[in-house]
Amino acid sequence: MPRIEEVDHLVIGSGIAGLSFAIEVARRGGSVRVVTKKEHHESSTNRAQGGIAAVLDPTDSLEAHVHDTIRAGAGLCHEQTVRLMVEEGPVRIAELIALGVGFTKDADRSGLALGIEGGHSHRRIAHAKDLTGAEIERALVAACESNDRIELSDHHVAIDLITGVGGDGWHGCRGALILDSATGEVGVVLARTTMLSTGGCGQVFPRTTNPEIATGDGVAMAFRAGVVIANMEFIQFHPTALAVDSADSFLISEAVRGEGGILKTLDGRAFMHRYDERRELASRDIVARAIDAELKRRGDPHVLLDVTHFAPGRFEDRFPHIHARCAKHGIDIEKGAIPVAPSAHYSCGGVVTDHEGAASMPGLFAAGEVACTGVHGANRLASNSLLEAVVFAHRAAIAASGVEGVDHGAARAGVRTSIEALMARGDPPPFGRVATIRAAVADLMQDYAGIVRTRARLARAADRLAQAASEVHGLAAMSRPSEDLLELRSIVTTGLLIVQSALARPESRGLHWLRERPRPEEVAHDTLLRPDPGGDVAIVERVPSRSRW
Ligand code: FAD
Ligand code: SIN
Repeated sequence: MPRIEEVDHLVIGSGIAGLSFAIEVARRGGSVRVVTKKEHHESSTNRAQGGIAAVLDPTDSLEAHVHDTIRAGAGLCHEQTVRLMVEEGPVRIAELIALGVGFTKDADRSGLALGIEGGHSHRRIAHAKDLTGAEIERALVAACESNDRIELSDHHVAIDLITGVGGDGWHGCRGALILDSATGEVGVVLARTTMLSTGGCGQVFPRTTNPEIATGDGVAMAFRAGVVIANMEFIQFHPTALAVDSADSFLISEAVRGEGGILKTLDGRAFMHRYDERRELASRDIVARAIDAELKRRGDPHVLLDVTHFAPGRFEDRFPHIHARCAKHGIDIEKGAIPVAPSAHYSCGGVVTDHEGAASMPGLFAAGEVACTGVHGANRLASNSLLEAVVFAHRAAIAASGVEGVDHGAARAGVRTSIEALMARGDPPPFGRVATIRAAVADLMQDYAGIVRTRARLARAADRLAQAASEVHGLAAMSRPSEDLLELRSIVTTGLLIVQSALARPESRGLHWLRERPRPEEVAHDTLLRPDPGGDVAIVERVPSRSRW
């Protein structure tokens, strides 16, 4: 008999967005089940280095943070949403501190030591040395684990959202089908609200700073359920990932450039002055493209991030984690520069949400990297991601707490039948077959939908991805769910959404750089994606930006 549970709030994902939401809905009296794909600390949140941006210095201003965010976003930021985030940021950071997050203090320990990163006109990045995300995650997990209303389950993979199966006139999301990857059993969590907080999709590309969990599951699940997705073409490539074969795209924080690190070609020449007056602190899209152009011009495998001019000991004190990782790879920071190259890092698009974190389907909320709030526009400003996650997860928690309970009686019967049908399918395909398709898709994305794009190459990618999607969906329809096949299904769906969104944008804007059209159009548009009921392909609609979605 499949396991069917009922809670007030189902949270899918245990990064900053999911955990912040869980803590707040529990505080308001709800029962909460957090399911997470691997160990609960495996998340992008846990890897965040630079910090969390907010106006925390009296000489800074809300207006300046709004301005910097909008400038980076290349005409697509929704100003009202940006204002909400910036205004509520300082309060959310005070709450994190109250929960026990130990941000680094300034020299006389009277306030926080604030960092600076690309695109910011002021020092406003609160950080815990270069392990900010791990410190935030530690405090949030501790708060969840000590809360009787919150149950946190590792190795539980959400397969699909359960939508409108009640037959009782209530439409919307009622929870999710969940695979217990330790036992292979599929169960269901029914809930009055479901929070999608599954993070990003860096694993769609072969070189990424993201952890293994970042396979675009949330976007793919929402898309299959008919929920509106937007702006998937805006994939942010972080300019400086460690470019040593065995280093697995380990991030070298932008804060290193904030503290004076200089980008140089392999012959030791600085080059950022030729691309932007802000040099190393230009926004990320500009720096990543500049590095890409230098690599192509010179045929080099990477550029160098030079920190040899830092005072002795300063780098190790400010960036102990990066220092240790470089040392592990035989790089002596004091004597030699760090080899770096761009790497897929962040998805600016995602599940469209309103100011309360609500998606286009009743009962469904989304926050964090999986969501598209309108804050980041066409290019996210550094360290605005953790901030956006914590602000909109909090707003979503307030809204979700007000959603009335539903009778799950009819839904129970419906899901029991679907689970039995699912478990009656054959064995999943061998891991080797799944891994081969996955590697081919990732290479395709890197070659055809990377930092610099052309319409011809995007069209070729769309054809090949559609073929891969039909093979993978065929395999998925015949077999019992397995974690690697579920991830592959998400990767092909998300890859296809990225490419279809990119094809729908006949201009260069922010992170979407089209070689044949290097300028943005006069009127900025958002790209909306909905599933075509007949297949994998999205119906794409362009709407003038700043309109309500
Ligand atoms: P995550 O923290 O990624 O959490 C996602 C969760 O969802 C995980 O628990 C995962 O297991 C779970 N999950 C996924 N799919 C499923 C499924 N099907 N079923 C169940 N669970 C699932 N941003 C900043 O603002 N400042 C920084 O300094 C910064 N540094 C970064 C450094 C690195 C190396 C990286 C990769 C990102 C960085 N970012 C930074 C971006 C930021 O960390 C992320 O955007 C943010 O942490 C995302 O939080 P999240 O809660 O949305 O998702
Ligand atoms: C970094 O530390 O460079 C990452 C910051 C971010 O992604 O916002």
